[in-house]
Amino acid sequence: MATLGLNVDHTATVRQARRGTEPDPVAAALIGEMAGAVCITVHLREDRRHIQDRDVFLLREVVQTRLNLEMAATEEITKIALDLRPDQATIVPEKREEVTTEGGLDVVANRAAVEWTTKTLRDKGVLISLFIDPDEAQIAATREVGAQAVEFHTGAYANARGSEQAAELERLRVASLAAHALGLQVNAGHGLNMVNVVPVARLPHMVELNIGHSIISRALFVGLERAVREMVELIR
Ligand code: PXP
Repeated sequence: MATLGLNVDHTATVRQARRGTEPDPVAAALIGEMAGAVCITVHLREDRRHIQDRDVFLLREVVQTRLNLEMAATEEITKIALDLRPDQATIVPEKREEVTTEGGLDVVANRAAVEWTTKTLRDKGVLISLFIDPDEAQIAATREVGAQAVEFHTGAYANARGSEQAAELERLRVASLAAHALGLQVNAGHGLNMVNVVPVARLPHMVELNIGHSIISRALFVGLERAVREMVELIR
């Protein structure tokens, strides 16, 4: 059965709009856990546009479930991750000009950096997941660099409609089977919401869905506790 990893980045987006103290992503994480999220996910971007260093270290102290740090495979962020010791690190591509993480990590092209970050953190007991497109070569490279999990980028599925969406779902299904066959844990995320999440939750071997924007958006209208609880129930 798939589970929810709640991404609280966009609580910090609202806070950073005023460079103030509210709303606090740490409070969002605690409410999310109480509502049934079994993992708290945050992306400490190099440009610090939403989550700040203070957030990740406070989260490390208070999160009772699991802390998943999304991060670029850079020396600066890897050093922070070594201090932080998240339960899981999800390595993502990062471009300063992008609005959000636009595509999966090209593990094949960035092998040296990804392998170094993977090994450095894995040796300290951090579970390493690579955020990749549902692509055979990327899955194989994920295994080769020593990561234990994949997170499939579901953005193309989320943006597609009709038969194109069915084709994207089939790509995800084939990729899930391939990753599992190589001994990799299967996670997914990006662009998932209450309308499109169920077919992804039903994919074979799906362990963790990381969802942020749609839940934080819905929370404006129904409250965070309810928004998380409803998503957890749908995924189940
Ligand atoms: N997973 C990864 C690796 C991401 O980078 C993001 C976006 O930060 C998400 C999941 C969550 O995506 P969304 O906010 O669209 O739910």
